[in-house]
Amino acid sequence: MKAIYRKAISSDLVKCFEIRGATNDNSFSRNELAAIGITEESWSPLIDNGTYVGNVAIKQDEVIGFCFGNTETGEILVLAILAGHEGEGIGKQLLNQTSDDLFSVGHSELWLAATAKPVVRAYGFYRSVGWNPTQIYDDNGDEILRRRKI
Ligand SMILES: CC(C)(COP(=O)(O)OP(=O)(O)OC[C@H]1O[C@@H](n2cnc3c(N)ncnc32)[C@H](O)[C@@H]1OP(=O)(O)O)[C@@H](O)C(=O)NCCC(=O)NCCS
Repeated sequence: MKAIYRKAISSDLVKCFEIRGATNDNSFSRNELAAIGITEESWSPLIDNGTYVGNVAIKQDEVIGFCFGNTETGEILVLAILAGHEGEGIGKQLLNQTSDDLFSVGHSELWLAATAKPVVRAYGFYRSVGWNPTQIYDDNGDEILRRRKI
């Protein structure tokens, strides 16, 4: 079954955070997200006022993947696909749609922080879909990757 896509709204967050804790690898539980300040309360106003933009993928009326970006900084904030739905092109589609959203507000280059561990699927994924490693690392040891508007 093919996924359908739509813009994310703040009421999707409960499900999105559930998915972030239920990925095949690299998962973050609701408590772990809250510990770094990511909650429905902190994110909802930023989605409602357009600072954060996102897209969700839906199958059988259920959100099974999502991606959010920050229109002010050009950062892709998060991308996650529910375990069992990987390898169907959904991550690439969500990432490209959200990247286009950020390019459309004027950014010429986007960035994100991703695992620096080659064994994690996301490492090869981002390189495969056109993001460039920088060998610059954030405080968590994640590597900064960039992508320019084509
Ligand atoms: C990383 C993640 C988003 C990828 O999503 P996905 O839907 O499985 O990826 P897709 O099916 O869209 O893959 C797109 C392309 O990348 C390729 N790809 C994916 N993982 C790859 C890897 N590790 N190495 C090489 N290529 C890879 C696919 O083969 C596909 O290629 P194609 O376009 O030529 O067919 C997903 O595995 C996930 O949610 N992981 C857990 C959470 C996470 O780590 N998020 C990112 C950090 S915030």
